[in-house]
Amino acid sequence: MNKKRILTGIRPTGALHLGHYAGALENWVRLQDEYECFFLIADYQVSDYADDIDTVRQAVFEIATDWLAVGLDPERSHFVIESLVPEHAELTIWLSWYVGLGRLQRNPTLKAEMDELESRSKDAVPVAFFTYPVMQVANILMPKANLVPTGEDQSPHVEMTREVARRFNRLFGEVFPEPDGLVGRVPRLVGVDGQAKMSKSLNNAIYLKDDAEIVTQKVMRMYTDPTRIHATDPGHIEGNPVFMYHDAFNPDKAEVQDLKERYVVGKVGDVEVKQKLALALNALMEPIRERRARYEAQPALVREALASGSGYAKRVAEQTMSEVRAALRLNYLG
Ligand code: TRP
Repeated sequence: MNKKRILTGIRPTGALHLGHYAGALENWVRLQDEYECFFLIADYQVSDYADDIDTVRQAVFEIATDWLAVGLDPERSHFVIESLVPEHAELTIWLSWYVGLGRLQRNPTLKAEMDELESRSKDAVPVAFFTYPVMQVANILMPKANLVPTGEDQSPHVEMTREVARRFNRLFGEVFPEPDGLVGRVPRLVGVDGQAKMSKSLNNAIYLKDDAEIVTQKVMRMYTDPTRIHATDPGHIEGNPVFMYHDAFNPDKAEVQDLKERYVVGKVGDVEVKQKLALALNALMEPIRERRARYEAQPALVREALASGSGYAKRVAEQTMSEVRAALRLNYLG
């Protein structure tokens, strides 16, 4: 078996939502046959780790359960807890010599996160903020991944990984392939409140674990065309989150087209448009819920997926690190 490899991951900060699904998870599920996949839970990279260890611990299992629920398959793919493979830390130290601080500070994703911290206090930015993107590079290079499917926000990190791989190979000999990025069908999903991004911290997410009733409630309260007061007013589709979700998740394209045509001329109310969206979302989510229920009833299976995946990843990491050490000529004592 000589399949190309995928490594991708997520920080354990909470349950997964539809933004994760359309931006990344869908691709992960689809690519499991074609690639050998490493799905990483990046616990070294949680910025408020000390504040809430219980949340992180809970999120590790919540995410693994979400993964199983959407159809990631531990028989084919490896579920990895980052800190159970401490080789990631060692590789990060070596690679951190080959990432310029200026280069890092121009990384837009990092910049946004840092601005947010600095708005609280200058001293609030820990050194790990500069090393975590390097660790993400180490995560990707460790299994010599060829492809990194993520949401749009992670693309700058993948680009950096390519640069570091090139630089390392030039200095020390060919060790790492240069990975490609792959962004999902919906690179950035708007929140139910109309904000640019669905996110836990913005409190505007529909979670994969939400039951049908909650999903319907969230949809019925969704932000829509603010200029429309009566169902007979002509509505706007452009920039309307309800229609963005229809486009993203309703497989019945004829229904969506019909709703749009009636909406712009004031011949359909928001209620009907939202009801149809709730139905489409719940149809998509029902099989996910069924699989989740099965795994929630057998937590030992979740644990087992994490244990076997992390064990396998550790062996792969040991192999890569022996090549890295040879390339760096760390064999001082023969
Ligand atoms: N930084 C990613 C996030 O915030 C998580 C992550 C860690 C990751 N290591 C990775 C993603 C390696 C892709 C590849 O979600």
